[in-house]
Amino acid sequence: MPLPEENPLVDPTAERVAPPAVLVVFGASGDLTSRKLMPAIENLALRRLLPPGFAVVGVARTEMDDDDFRTRMREAVEKLGGGGDEARHVWDAFTGGFRYVAGDYSDSATFDRLKEVLDELDEQRGTAGNRLYYLATPPETFPVIVKALGEEKLNTAKHPDAFIRVVIEKPYGHDGASARALDEVVHAVFDEHQVYRIDHYLGKETVQNVLALRFANAIFEPVWNRRYVDHVQITVAESLGVGHRGGFYEKAGALRDIVQNHVMQVMALTTMEPPASFDAQGIRDEKVKALRAVDILSREEVLTEVVRAQYSRGWVEGEEVPGYREEEGVDPHSQTETYVAMRLKVDNWRWAGVPFYIRTGKRLPKRVTEVAMQFQKVPHLPFAPSQARDLAPDALVLRIQPDEGITLLFGAKVPGQTFEVRSVSMDFFYGAAFLEEAPEAYERLLLDALVGDPTLFIRSDEVEQAWRICDPILDAWSEADAPLATYESGTWGPAEADRLLARDGHRWRQP
Ligand code: BG6
Repeated sequence: MPLPEENPLVDPTAERVAPPAVLVVFGASGDLTSRKLMPAIENLALRRLLPPGFAVVGVARTEMDDDDFRTRMREAVEKLGGGGDEARHVWDAFTGGFRYVAGDYSDSATFDRLKEVLDELDEQRGTAGNRLYYLATPPETFPVIVKALGEEKLNTAKHPDAFIRVVIEKPYGHDGASARALDEVVHAVFDEHQVYRIDHYLGKETVQNVLALRFANAIFEPVWNRRYVDHVQITVAESLGVGHRGGFYEKAGALRDIVQNHVMQVMALTTMEPPASFDAQGIRDEKVKALRAVDILSREEVLTEVVRAQYSRGWVEGEEVPGYREEEGVDPHSQTETYVAMRLKVDNWRWAGVPFYIRTGKRLPKRVTEVAMQFQKVPHLPFAPSQARDLAPDALVLRIQPDEGITLLFGAKVPGQTFEVRSVSMDFFYGAAFLEEAPEAYERLLLDALVGDPTLFIRSDEVEQAWRICDPILDAWSEADAPLATYESGTWGPAEADRLLARDGHRWRQP
C-alpha cells in the first residue's frame, strides 16, 4: 500500500511499515492493554513504523469517552517509563485516531457502535477498511466476541484489497476439547489465514535466535541429535508469585499457563527439522511435526514422569513472601500447581532415547528461561580421575532471558605445572554483540500481524498437538489422589523433581 510521501511519522528506510489500519482492542481497560499493547504501539510509533492512517479503537465495559481513553493510555505508557518530549509529540500525532466504545460484548449495540466508529475512521483517518481485531479479554469472552463480529458482518472486508485479521490471546482453550470447540466458532467466522493466535514467547528475540543458531550455522546442526546430545533441560523459572492474578491462576495452573504454550513452542523450535524455506508454512509445518513426535504419557506414566507442586511461604530475592494458598483470590485448600517438572521423550530418528527435562515454576530463586543441551561424555577420558575432578560434560546453553545470549561449557587445562582439566564457559551476550535495541515481544508481534506475517503465531494444528501432550496429564491430575508436592518459595522446586532426574543419573542445572 503506498504511503504518503514526506511523511514524518514513517521511516523511509524501514523494511517493514504497518499499512493504514484500525487496531480494535477488546479488553481495552484491562491489564494487558496498558502493560503490553500500548507500550508496543508507542514503540512502533517512535520507531516510525506506523502510518498516519493508523487508528486504535478500545472496546470494554468500563464507561469512558475518547478523551478518558487517551488519557488513560498516556498514563499507562508513562508509568512504564515511556513518555519524554519525543514520545509525547509522536503520541499526540496518533491519539487523534484513538476512539473508545463502551459496552458489553454480548450486546449487539456495542458492535453497531463499533461499526459506526470504524466507518468514521475510514473516512476521517484513511484507515482503508483494514482491521486488526485484538482479543485481549478473558478467554470465556473469545467465542462471544468472535460470534458477534460474524453476526455484525465485521468479519468481511469492505473492498477486495482490505484485510481483516484477528489476534487471539492465550489461553486458547483450557484443554484439547475446548480448544477444538473454540476453533469451530472461530472458523465459522474467519478463515485460518486471518487468525493470529499469539504466544508472546515467539516474539522474544532469543527464542527466534534458536532458529538462527541452528539453521544459519554449520557447526551446531551436526551435533544436534541423539548421537551427541545426552539430554536437554528446558527451564522457565519465575521469581514472582501469582500477584493479583490468583483468581485466573486458580483455574489455570502452571501446566496450562506456561507448559502448553511457551514451553511447547520452545521445545518445538529446539527439536524441529530444518524447514525447506523460512516462511510461515515451512516453519509451522516442521513445528507441528516435532510436537507430533512427542510421546504421549499414559496415566501411570504421568505419576512417574511428571511432578507438580505448589509454593509455600519463604524468601525470594531478600523478601519474605506468602505461600500460594495465602495469596489473594486463591482457595486456602487449592490443588492448583505453581510448578511442573517432567520428562518427555521425542520419538523420531533425531531424538530417540534423549530425555527432555522440562521445569517451570513461580517463586523460584530467580527469573530465568533457558534451553540447555547437555552433550554426552567423551567415550574414554585419558586422564586420572583426580585430573578431571571438576570436569562436567560439555553443554550449550541458550539463555532466553535475562542476560540473553549463549554459553558453551567445555573442559580446559588449568594453568600450572600439573595436568588438570576443569569446565570453563565461553559466553556470547546479545547486548554486547549488537548495538541495535531488540524490540519487545509484543511490538514485534503486533507489527507482524499488521503486515500480515503469521510465521510467529500459532496455527490451529499446533495448538491441538500441544494439548494432546498436556491433556493426559490434566486428566491424571483431576483424580482425587493425584500427588501435589510443596516447595518453599525461593528454592528450585520440590525434592520429587530432583529425584526425577537422579533416576537417570542427572541433575538440574542451577542457572
Ligand atoms: C504469561 C503467563 O503468559 O507469561 C504469566 O500467563 C507469566 O503467568 C508470563 O508470568 C511470563 O512471561 P515472561 O515474558 O515474563 O517470561
